[in-house]
Amino acid sequence: MEEDLNAILSEMTLEEKAAFCTGATAWSSTAVERLGIPEMIVADGPHGVRRMRDIHAVSQQSLPATCFPTASCSASTWDVDLLRQMGEALGEECIALDVDVLLGPGVNMKRSPLGGRNFEYFSEDPYLAGELAASFINGVQSRGVGTSLKHYAANNQESYRTRISVEVDERALREIYLPAFEKAVKQARPWTVMGSYNKVNGMFTSEHRPLLTEILREEWGFEGVIVSDWSAVHDRVASLKAGLDWEMPGPQDRHVKALVEAVRSGELDEATLDEAVRRLLRVVFKAKETPKGGSFDGDAHHELARKIAAEGMVLLKNNGLLPLKEKQTLAVIGRAAKSAHFQGGGSSHINATKVTVPFEELQSRVAHAGLTYAEGYPEDGSYRQELIDQAVEIARSAEVAILFIALPAFKESEGYDRQDLDLTQQQSALIQAVAKAQPKTVVVLNNGAPVGMREWLDAVPAVLEGWMMGQAGGAALIDILFGRVAPCGKLPETFPLKLSDTPAYINWPGDAEKVSYGEGIFIGYRYYEKKQMPVLFPFGHGLSYTTFEYSNASVSAKAFKDIEGLTVSVDVTNTGSRPGKEVVQLYVHDRASELMRPEKELKGFAKVELQPGETRTVSIGLDSRAFAYYHPRYRQWITEDGDFDLLIGASSADIRCRLTVTLESTVTLPCLLNVESTVGDWLADPRGRAVLGPHYEKLEAESRKVSGDSHEESALGMDIMDMFKGMPLVSVVLFQ
Ligand code: BGC
Repeated sequence: MEEDLNAILSEMTLEEKAAFCTGATAWSSTAVERLGIPEMIVADGPHGVRRMRDIHAVSQQSLPATCFPTASCSASTWDVDLLRQMGEALGEECIALDVDVLLGPGVNMKRSPLGGRNFEYFSEDPYLAGELAASFINGVQSRGVGTSLKHYAANNQESYRTRISVEVDERALREIYLPAFEKAVKQARPWTVMGSYNKVNGMFTSEHRPLLTEILREEWGFEGVIVSDWSAVHDRVASLKAGLDWEMPGPQDRHVKALVEAVRSGELDEATLDEAVRRLLRVVFKAKETPKGGSFDGDAHHELARKIAAEGMVLLKNNGLLPLKEKQTLAVIGRAAKSAHFQGGGSSHINATKVTVPFEELQSRVAHAGLTYAEGYPEDGSYRQELIDQAVEIARSAEVAILFIALPAFKESEGYDRQDLDLTQQQSALIQAVAKAQPKTVVVLNNGAPVGMREWLDAVPAVLEGWMMGQAGGAALIDILFGRVAPCGKLPETFPLKLSDTPAYINWPGDAEKVSYGEGIFIGYRYYEKKQMPVLFPFGHGLSYTTFEYSNASVSAKAFKDIEGLTVSVDVTNTGSRPGKEVVQLYVHDRASELMRPEKELKGFAKVELQPGETRTVSIGLDSRAFAYYHPRYRQWITEDGDFDLLIGASSADIRCRLTVTLESTVTLPCLLNVESTVGDWLADPRGRAVLGPHYEKLEAESRKVSGDSHEESALGMDIMDMFKGMPLVSVVLFQ
C-alpha cells in the first residue's frame, strides 16, 4: 500500500497536492479523478451522525439518524462497554449514510460548568474522559469508519473561542488538558485529530508545532491526519509547517495558492507538503475499504440509546419517594414533559429518527394512573405567574408531582457560554411553589451541565439529573422513575454550591485576548478537595434504589517498584432488595511530594452488576502513570519514592476503603544542578549531595558550636542553615 501511495504521490502536481490538503466542500476532501483519488466524507458527531443532504451546505437539516445521549449523559454511565456499543452503532450509521469519518468524540475538560459546549464533553477528569473516549473510538473504528478526536487542545470555553489565548502552565497542560487526548490516541488510534479554534500560550493551535508535531506525533506516536476545526486556519503555510495536514472546510483557493507559492519560493519544503498528502491519502484510501450504503437498524439503535440514557441518568437525591408506585395519580408539570429536551444546540444537533416524549410514555405505560398536565413555564424564559398557579393547582389534587425542567437553549448551547448556573426565574419559582403544595414532588432535570439548586433542593424529596438524554430519553426516564431500571449513573463532574465557588471563577472567561488558567491543575474535585470546600454533589456521586457495601480491600503488593504497577481488589455486595449496578472508583493520593498534588485523583474504576445479596470481587489495575505527576523542571512525568494512599469509594467524597502502599521510583532524573540552584536543591539530589554534603555538614557543625541548638542564641536569632538552604549556590559564595 505504501508503494502505491508513493506512486500516486509522485504523479501529483504541486497544485494538486496543495488542493488535496484542503477540503473540496463543507464536508468532503478533494478528489483527484485523474489519479483515482476518491473523496472522503466527514460528518459531525459526537453523539449522532449529522450528515448533510447537500455536501456544500454548512448547515441544513441533516439526514435522520439516531440521537444518542450527549456526552454529559453517556459519561455518567462510567461504562466503557456501553460507550463502545454506542461507537459501533454510530459507525454503522455512518456506513448507511455514506460517511467516512465521524467528527467526534470531544474530550476537552470541563474547566468551568459555564462552558457552553460542556454537554459535548465527558468530564472534568482526564482519566475518565480518556477511558470513555478510547472505547468510543474503538467502537466506531471497529466498523471501518474513522473518528476525529477533538478539539485539540485546551478549548474549554465558547467566549472568544476563535481568538482567545489560553495561558496555561505546562504542568496543567500535561496533567489536565492533554491526558484524555493522549490516552485516546495511544489506546484507540483515531484516524484523525481535530485542532481547535483557540490559541495556547499565544499561538493558534492550528499553527502550534509543539502541540501538533512534537507532542501528538513524536511523543504519542499519532500517525493519522490532523484536521483543522472548521475555518480555524489563519496562516495556511504556518499551519502546514506546524503539522496540520488538512484544512476544512473548503474550497480555500487563497490558501491553496499560498501553499503553492510557498513551495515555489522555497519558504516551504515540498517534502513537508508530501508528508501531509501521504498521511491524508492513507486515511482516504483506508476509508474506501469500507463500502458505504445500505441501512441501519434504527429500532435497535433507539433501544441502545434508551439503555445508555437510563444508565447515564443520575439520581442526585431521594428521600424514599422514588421509585414511584404505578397506581398513584400524577401531576405532570413542565414543558419538557411534552416537548422533550434531549440534545444541545450547534454542530452536534441531530435530526433524530424518532423521539420518545415523557408525557406520552407516561400515558401509554402508566395508563392506569390518572395524569394531569400543566405547562409550568413558557418557552421564551419570561415570567408567567398564571402558569405557576395552574401547576400548583394540579399538584395539589394529585398524589405525586413530577416536574420536568429543561434548561432552555438560550442559556446553553455551542457558540456561547452560560452566564450563570441558574434555571430561569420562573422555573425556580415553579419548583418552590409546587413543592410547597405537594410534598411528594420529584424534579427531573434536562440540561448539559450543573445547575444551581440551593433555592429549592431542601424542599423536594427527589431529584433526577436526566441530562440531555438523547432521543429515547423519555422512555428511559419512565424506566427509572418507576423502578423498571435501577439508576446507576454517577456524576462525571462536580455540582458546585454556587458559581463563585468554582475553580475558574476569577479567571473566566478572560478578556477577548487572553484567559489565564490560574487554578493550574486544580480543576473540578481536585480544587474543591484541596480547598476543603463543600459542594452540592461531589464528583462520582449517584444514588441507586439499592445499597452496596465494600469489604476486603487488598492490593497485590504493599511495596512495589513503579514500573511493576499494582492490582487493587475489593468485594462489593448488594445489601438491598433490588438488583443494581455500582461504579467502584479508585483514587490515588500521594502523601508527600516535591510539588503540590491533589488530595485524590481518579486512576481506575469498574462497573459491576449485582443481584440482591450477591458479592463480587472487583479488581482494578494501576500502572506507574497512576502515581506519577508532570514535573515542569524536568519536563517529564516522574514518580517519587514514598507512601501513597489508595482510596476506594462510591464517589470522590464517599471513600469506603483505604490502603497504603510504598512506591520505589525507577525514574532517573537528569541532573539540573548549577550555580543558580539552591543549597537545598543540591542537597536533595544525591549527585549534588555527594559534592556539597561534606562542606555543608562541616558548616552546620560549626554553626551548632556557636549557637547550640537554640536559634535565639545565634548571632542573627535564626536558623542560619535553613536560610542557606534557600539560597542559590552563587549567592552563598558571594556571601562569604
Ligand atoms: C465545531 C466542530 C465541528 C465543526 C463542523 C466547528 O464549529 O467546533 O466541533 O465538528 O464545526 O461542524
